[in-house]
Amino acid sequence: MNDDQFVEVTLAVNGERHQVRCEARTLLSDLLRDELDHKEVRVGCEHGVCGACTIMVDGAAVRSCIMLAGCADGAEITTVAGLATEGEELPPLQRAFKEHHGFQCGFCTAGILVSVLAEAKAGRPREEVLADTLGGHICRCTGYVNIRRAINAAWDEIAPEAAA
Ligand code: FES
Ligand code: FES
Repeated sequence: MNDDQFVEVTLAVNGERHQVRCEARTLLSDLLRDELDHKEVRVGCEHGVCGACTIMVDGAAVRSCIMLAGCADGAEITTVAGLATEGEELPPLQRAFKEHHGFQCGFCTAGILVSVLAEAKAGRPREEVLADTLGGHICRCTGYVNIRRAINAAWDEIAPEAAA
């Protein structure tokens, strides 16, 4: 393989900096899971539909299965694991998911938490998050009722303008 088929990627994942050389065609989801061992990034459909692989790239929710790793050069990545600190109390949205039984198998949960927090922090109205953001995440287990309950329960704590 020629050298021009590889890229150098420097990025931070949950605050930890990495420099990686990978094939130019490498997907960000594969880089995170296979090279950097961030298995908390779930991969379902692999074509941008289910939302399971959603992470934050510089604070915005992004489907990592349809982003090339090379496009994340210089980015700050946050996975679901970077949204809480081990050993500390769960943050409000994660706590609400637990209290309201917002998941069953949990496969979709990481992507939903990331998307909802990114959109809430960006000032998106609650009804849009409940309709549009959640509509972009496929959950095969819950029927969404408890997910919606959890988001509603945590909303005032996760949305800056709601708390203002
Ligand atoms: S695995 Fe990326 S959207 Fe489904
Ligand atoms: S909890 Fe199983 S897919 Fe959502």
